[in-house]
Amino acid sequence: MKKIIVLLMAVMMTMGLAACGGSADGSAAASGGESDSYIDQIKAKGELVVGTSADYPPYEFHTEIDGVDTIVGFDIAIAQAIADDLGVELKIVDMSFDNLLMSLSNGEFDMVIAGLSADEERMKTNDFSDTYLESKNLILVRKEDESKYTTTDSLKGVKTGAQTGTMCYDRIVPFVGEDSMVGLAKVPDLVMELKNGKVDVITLDYMAVLTYAAENDDLVAVDCGLPSDDEGYSIAFQKGNTEMVEYVNGVLAELKESGAIDQYIIEAQELAGTEE
Ligand code: ARG
Repeated sequence: MKKIIVLLMAVMMTMGLAACGGSADGSAAASGGESDSYIDQIKAKGELVVGTSADYPPYEFHTEIDGVDTIVGFDIAIAQAIADDLGVELKIVDMSFDNLLMSLSNGEFDMVIAGLSADEERMKTNDFSDTYLESKNLILVRKEDESKYTTTDSLKGVKTGAQTGTMCYDRIVPFVGEDSMVGLAKVPDLVMELKNGKVDVITLDYMAVLTYAAENDDLVAVDCGLPSDDEGYSIAFQKGNTEMVEYVNGVLAELKESGAIDQYIIEAQELAGTEE
């Protein structure tokens, strides 16, 4: 039942975006025949290197497929579609969320996809694609506290966990107060702290909250009315890499129009449900 709600919510959110979606045609913006364009370099290399933080089901997470630890999720499916469009292999690099954008700027990967939203601060150091899905934050609490934290006012002074370097962290601080915040690098560690009673609330992007709630009988998702960011999720690139931004915007527009992203979400949700 919970899973169905997750799916419905996800589909509704992509439909909302499709309506105001872009118009690009999916073709590369590289100007005629230049051989040293960024995209030509990727093609010559034969792989698209993508950074992520695979601790965020159903966006990106580890699962076992045929006995092999594999990184999956709808972000990964989008990255795969971009690699396929380029005709190259996809190589995923997994690291802590708070190191991703810095490593991208250092040239460690071609792009970052990680349930990531663009804001002014991040736009100073990186370029971003169009958004591919609307974003929203929810809180995850222990079942017995379901009716305790229903408004942002109720969060004041409550031990609250969030992933370091995320907007989820920044968004909830004003309600909780810095002194009551616990920042950890990895999301499963936050979930563990919540289950063990070390923190009483954690905040993540909505689909991760809904997925962890669906996977853990002792946890529930609550919408306490955190201000939603209107940015939505984007893919990040090195500052100034307009060629990749435009190319990827073309691919994203096609994926949105064809309903592929909704399909990726459903598949990722199924994979997340069978985990553990
Ligand atoms: N949406 C939030 C942000 O952009 C958090 C993303 C966390 N992603 C992850 N893969 N752990 O800051």
